[in-house]
Amino acid sequence: MKLIIINGPNLNLLGTREPHIYGRQSFEDYFLKLQEDYPHLTLHYFQSNHEGRIIDKLHEVGFSYDGIILNAGAYTHTSIAIADAIAAIRTPVIEVHISNVHEREEFRHHSYLSAVCRGLIVGLGLKGYELAIRFFLE
Ligand code: DQA
Repeated sequence: MKLIIINGPNLNLLGTREPHIYGRQSFEDYFLKLQEDYPHLTLHYFQSNHEGRIIDKLHEVGFSYDGIILNAGAYTHTSIAIADAIAAIRTPVIEVHISNVHEREEFRHHSYLSAVCRGLIVGLGLKGYELAIRFFLE
């Protein structure tokens, strides 16, 4: 099974960015732990602050991987182009948000991506990424 986690803008700063919302763990540390916990899985990680690079990565993996776990950060709320890329590929995508976007500002309540994703995991912290892995595994 081949899965990839794709994180969008500002998620490279997890651990230091608004820790009261996103926690104190860096994604690199969390990802190492995931790789240890799921040794039989081919698990890749990609992060970019650039919309086009995220789209390029979706095209690159979207016909050969078994699953994509995507936290597009703020592009979730703005990007028709990322939604179109998800609709264009074959690999199912699970949308993940660390924080509960629905208890935050109004502009975070709408996602352009949800309608073209297989499912959503919202507000469960970093654990959401692991739950998405477990969905694909089961
Ligand atoms: C986020 C929520 C988004 O609204 C925000 O722009 C992010 C992170 C989350 O994981 O909770 O960058 O996707």
